[in-house]
Amino acid sequence: MQFKSFVLSALLAVSANAAALSSRAANDVWDPKITSPVTGTVWVIGTRVNVTWSLDDEPANVSNGGKIVLRKAGKVTTVGDLTPAFNLKAADGFFELTVPVVIPGNDYEIILFGDSGNISEDFTIAAA
Ligand SMILES: *[C@@H]1O[C@H](CO)[C@@H](O)[C@H](O)[C@H]1NC(C)=O
Ligand SMILES: *[C@@H]1O[C@H](CO)[C@@H](O)[C@H](O)[C@H]1NC(C)=O
Ligand SMILES: *[C@@H]1O[C@H](CO)[C@@H](O)[C@H](O)[C@H]1NC(C)=O
Repeated sequence: MQFKSFVLSALLAVSANAAALSSRAANDVWDPKITSPVTGTVWVIGTRVNVTWSLDDEPANVSNGGKIVLRKAGKVTTVGDLTPAFNLKAADGFFELTVPVVIPGNDYEIILFGDSGNISEDFTIAAA
């Protein structure tokens, strides 16, 4: 009797896992690869620039939203978010933003979320 109910609950656990797997496949999280900014990119404070990313590995359905965060020397800057949360799939590979007023430097990076976030190469922010 007890064995029987153990088998039944094991079977239920297996089918619950299968359901979780298939709903994950139908609605994928995605961490796109950043194609701009890259090494050599210069953003001038106050100008409009594009952050761009590759659509090569874009799942049919993207369940996670997008957001772009500014880092300097590996630390999130006081500016923090460069964008509000946006629809990553609808953005279709780019987000245009205005370069914020920060201390000029060549050790800036952005994080593009994504699921856990993809980090850009170091690039430069220059004074206007
Ligand atoms: C994408 O989501 C729709 C609606 O939820 C679903 O019908 C479709 O099967 C999904 N496509 C893939 C490839 O997962
Ligand atoms: C950003 O990319 C879009 C789409 O290619 C383009 O229309 C827009 O002019 C670009 N903006 C800048 C600042 O380069
Ligand atoms: C960014 O995404 C690319 C493509 O998925 C991956 O190869 C790379 O390791 C990622 N880099 C980081 C820092 O997450």
